[in-house]
This record gives sequence, C-alpha cells and structure tokens, in this order.
Amino acid sequence: MSQALPQSTPAVDPVDPVGPDASDRPARAAWLRAIVTRHGHAYYVLDRPTIPDAEYDKLYRELEQIEAADPALVTDDSPTRRVGAAPLGQFAPVRHGVPMLSLANGFSEADILAFDRRVAEGLQTSAVDYAAELKFDGLAINLRYEDGMLVEAATRGDGATGENVTANIRTVQAIPLRLHTAHPPKVIDIRGEVLMFKADFARMNARQREAGAKEFANPRNAAAGSLRQLDSRITAQRTLCFFAYGIGTLEGAAMPASHAALLDWYRELGVAVCAERAVVTGTTGLLGFFEDIGKRRASLPYEIDGVVYKVNQVAQQERLGFVSRAPRFAIAHKFPAEEATTVVQEINVQVGRTGAITPVARLAPVTVGGVSVTNATLHNEDEVRRKDIRIGDTVIVRRAGDVIPEVVAFVPEMRAPSAREFIMPVSCPVCGSPIERAEDEAVARCSGGWIKCPAQRKGGLLHFVSRRAMDIEGLGDQLVDQLVERNVISNAADLYRLGFVALAELDRMAEKSATNVLNAIEKSKSTTLARFIYALGIRHVGEATAKALARHFGSLDALLDAGEAQLLLVADVGPVVARAILQFLENPLNRELIAQLRALGLTWTETQPDKIGMPLQGMTFVLTGTLPTLPRDAAAALIEAAGGKVAGSVSKKTSYVVAGSDAGSKLVKAQDLGIPIIDEQQLQRLLEESKPT
Ligand code: IVH
Repeated sequence: MSQALPQSTPAVDPVDPVGPDASDRPARAAWLRAIVTRHGHAYYVLDRPTIPDAEYDKLYRELEQIEAADPALVTDDSPTRRVGAAPLGQFAPVRHGVPMLSLANGFSEADILAFDRRVAEGLQTSAVDYAAELKFDGLAINLRYEDGMLVEAATRGDGATGENVTANIRTVQAIPLRLHTAHPPKVIDIRGEVLMFKADFARMNARQREAGAKEFANPRNAAAGSLRQLDSRITAQRTLCFFAYGIGTLEGAAMPASHAALLDWYRELGVAVCAERAVVTGTTGLLGFFEDIGKRRASLPYEIDGVVYKVNQVAQQERLGFVSRAPRFAIAHKFPAEEATTVVQEINVQVGRTGAITPVARLAPVTVGGVSVTNATLHNEDEVRRKDIRIGDTVIVRRAGDVIPEVVAFVPEMRAPSAREFIMPVSCPVCGSPIERAEDEAVARCSGGWIKCPAQRKGGLLHFVSRRAMDIEGLGDQLVDQLVERNVISNAADLYRLGFVALAELDRMAEKSATNVLNAIEKSKSTTLARFIYALGIRHVGEATAKALARHFGSLDALLDAGEAQLLLVADVGPVVARAILQFLENPLNRELIAQLRALGLTWTETQPDKIGMPLQGMTFVLTGTLPTLPRDAAAALIEAAGGKVAGSVSKKTSYVVAGSDAGSKLVKAQDLGIPIIDEQQLQRLLEESKPT
C-alpha cells in the first residue's frame, strides 16, 4: 500500500505511540494531527485500520480539546476540520445535495442526561419524545431515487463529496431498484447503513481462508471492502445488507412529521428499516432502550457499537438545528469499546481437559468492554503463525459479550525489532509428557492423559461439576485445584467418596462450607441421563448432542451397547462424533469410571428409546416477526420438542421460515433463496402431526 500521505502531514515516528508531553501544546497538537491523519487514512481510505476505533476517538477528542482551548493551533489540514476522509479516487466523485453529517457521541449516563437537558431547554419543553434506534457498525450510504428509480448511490466520503458506488449498491438485495409506490417523490435521498451480518462475515472469511486470500478483521471492514470493489461482480458475491435511518434531499413529496413516520414510510416504499426501534420519552425512556439493547447486543445478527437517539418530531429537529458537524437533535450513545490495544508480554500455553494445548497471550492490563483483561486466547499454533503474533507486539484485543478475550491482530506500525516468535513447547508444562499433534488436527495435545496429567484431571473435574453438567455448587476452581494437587481425588467417582474430614482440611474451608459442598455432591446424584452423558466430557459431545443421545437411546446401557451404525442414526451425530464416542467407550478406564459412578448411587429416569423419528427431525426453522398467538420462545420450544432446530438466520439449509407480522430482512432473504415461508397456523399443523396418535 503506497498511497502517499497528504503533503502537509509531518513525518511521525511510526513506533512512537506516546508522542510529546501535553505540556508542550503546539508540539502535542502537531503530533495528534499527524497520528490521527495517519490512522484515519488507514481506516477510511485503505480499509486497513491500524488502531481500534475507541483509541482513535480518544486521540481525536484530545486534539479537539486542545484546539478548542487554543484556536490559534487549528490548521486547515486538521482532521477535525473534515467529517470523513477523502474519496479513494478510483470511483467518480458525487457531491451530496445535503451534506452527510456525523453524530455527537455520548459515553456515559451523564452525557445522555446533559443531551436531554440541552434539547429540552432548546425546545422549552419538559418531556421530549425521541426515536431510538441502533447505531449500526457499517458504512453510511446515500441512495438517490428519481421518480422512484434508483439512479445513484454514493458513500459518505468527507461528508460533502462521496464516491459513486451505484454499480455495487445495485447488487445489494436489501436495496430496491424501484420504490414500491405508484406516486414516488420526484427526488429523494434515502440514507442509511450498508452492513454485513455476522454469519455472512464468518462464511466470507472461511471462503477467503480456503482461497488463501486476505481475511477481514470485522464485519464493518468486510462490508467496506466489498462496497469499495471496482468490480461489482465481486461485490455481488458478498452478502451485504442495508438499513435506512435518514434523509437528504426531498422534492415532490411532503416530509413526514416525525422520524418514526419517515421510517414507516420507507418501509412502505420497500426500503429496509431495522425492526429494533422505539419511540421513547425523556431520559428514562432513552436509558431503558440502551439497557435493553445492551442485553441483547451479542445475540443480534449484526454488529452495533451503540444506539442513536433522535428528537422524533421533525419540526422540533428543525428548531434545534446543527452545530459544526453534527445535528443538535441527535446523539449516539456508545457501548464500552469491545476492542483495545495493548502489549503482549509473554505467550504461554494452557492445558485443557482433553489435553488440548492453547497458546495464551499474557497482556499488559487493559480495559476492554468495561473489564480489565490480562489474558487472551490465541486458539492454536497455526493461528499464532497466521496472525503472526509475537511476544512484545502491540496487539488489538477483542472481548465481545461474555466470549473469552482474543487477540485479533498485531499493529505492524508498532512492531519492535526485538519482538520474539512463539515456540510451541515439546512437552506438557504441567506433567512433562510429550506434546503431540495429529496430522489432520489443528490442535496439539498433551499425551499424558487423565492418569498422568493433573491439568487434564482438573479440567475434566471442573467440567464434570459445572452448572450444565452435574451442577455441583461450591466446587470451584480453587477447591478442585487443591483436591487434585493433594491427590485427594483423581477422578469424578472419588468426588462421591469424599468425606467431611478430607474436605474440612483444605485451605479456606470452613465447617459450614464443607457441609454445603457435601450436600451439593449428594444432591447431584439424582440427575438426568443427558447431564450425565455431557458430564463425561466425551470429545465433540456438547450439551445438544448429549441431549440427542439421551433422547434417542433412552437408557445408558443402550448407549453403551451402541455401534457406529446406531450412533449415526442420532440427529446431530456424524462420523467424527460417532468415532469420538466409540473411542471413549472402548477405553476400559472410562467403562470402569461409569460403573463406579453408578455403583456410588448416581441415578436418572430412563425412557423408552425414541423409535419413531420425530416429524420435525432434521428440519431447521427460522422465526421472524411477531406470531399472532405464540411468543417466540414458545414457538421455538415446540419446534425443538418435535425434533426440529431453530436457527437465527436464513441460509440454504433452512427448511421453513415462520413469518409473523412485521417480519424483516429474514423474510426478504427467504424469498431470495426460495425457502418455503409459512405462518403460525401452518406451523401448528406441522406440529400436530408430531403428536403420538
Ligand atoms: S444518523 C445527521 N443513524 O454513524 C445524522 N447514523 O456518526 C446522520 N450510523 O455516518 C447519521 N447508525 O455511518 C445515524 N441509526 C443511525 C446510525 C448512524 C450508524 C453511523 C453512520 C454515520 C455515523 C455518524
């Protein structure tokens, strides 16, 4: 990438992440201008971000503050003097009729209270109605329709001039080529965000990996990279999506009275609008919306980095007007950043319950998603090589929701010459047994097994007692550690032989807690077959597979006697899983463990083997919109009880899409893929057939 930086940008030491001290204001401002320009160029123009957005925002804000305090330091080329970035050059420039602005950001409750106060004061009212919606993490786009036909699509660019990406936009299925109305406005600029769904992103990266091509760091970059293709045939192979949220020029039609009405109108015109929106009143309403979306963020099919609040009444919006680069009537309420940069101080390996060796980066502490992070997984040896992560590197760390933090990439500009490569150890750091790696596997494993390796024993026991397995409360990390280290127990059966004295002798174990643990162990004896199978920790047998096995075989003996052919009849079980189960059961030690556990009093209710395959077996359903009588959870439970699966997004593998009112993009996708669409009544009919006669 050899695009020259603007002439006026002074040279910056590429590995100087700190810059001059803030006491030297002019020098600090010059450094900030240069570093912000450099990162901005990488992000906006090259689609190759060099730091996380939050870090960029921080530098940007510092520059804004210095300039506000000392206006003499503002230069013409300061990145604060433009909205976005210069167009790439290869696409024809498009001048926006109405500039595409940006949004002010709020990061705390206090910011939002202050925003509402400003708005209420400006309007001289007490309770303001706001349209609350999502802040999509994609690319802003302007769609110009003339007499109902899509004539031009342009990126935001620097806000005044964008790039003409009409050919690429025409390939986005969610964007209509003609508005669905007999009386279209003469001219309308519909604005919104082009984005890529998480599932499409994962699929696309898998394809890129197979082809040995560059992978994208996140869905936003993937969407940007896809839209900025000069060859629209490539864009057409990428699944992009669009949600409308704004308007530019409008001629030959009346502007709706509110933002909510504008979005409703878009919907009627056949333009995609996100269903996750609400009209709320005052700060209570705003913060309630923020909290609700925050809880559901991880399960949304696309990435968002916050929510957006807009004064709902257009007349009120007009009264409030604009400040330099953003409207006064709107604000983005951002979530804590899910990405941050820090330094890899060391790379060690961890030994899992199956002996899997996982390289783990030990990090200089950094706050990500509101939590201090010191370790991040690197998954496996190949991943370390592919991402070329070295000890001493400055890296981007990501922590999304409750997922284990991971190292996304290193920052090439900040690599020190002294950075060292990670070397996979040849023996297990815990038990010293050789580390082996099967030819067809990505994962290296300690060959010590349960008998020799305490780490595997600990991992296995922790899995056995975990909530979704035997659910033994009070037996945490530290307790299991001590029990294994002191050789009090060596396997799961020993747990049920534990006496009060042995437990009470452990560090930090009061009489009361020893009794509680013993009670919890006793209570766990009465369990379900599915939990028991899952607790065994057979490789590839997760909770869902354990449930399927329990349902299919009904009794443990039937499972113990099953051969490969019988295992393959179980929904969810393919050749790899079947082989793993057989391997586990062929090991006499495992058979012995199971026998001991039964002898120690573990019980469950056994059922008749599931002979008549359930009618929805093997079918995958996607639910969209609001069904007339069934809440979504109830519909999903009924489908699963009849052997079907419920997926979050539509793909070629979907058997049926169940659509209710206000169905969104899933419905559009189902139509595109030719997937049968049914309503609640038809679903009920399918379910009827599943009831035993
Ligand atoms: S409204 C006049 N609404 O955020 C306000 N923007 O910082 C114009 N964005 O460039 C933007 N979701 O790329 C608006 N629901 C939403 C949005 C949204 C994401 C992006 C958009 C824009 C940037 C503004």
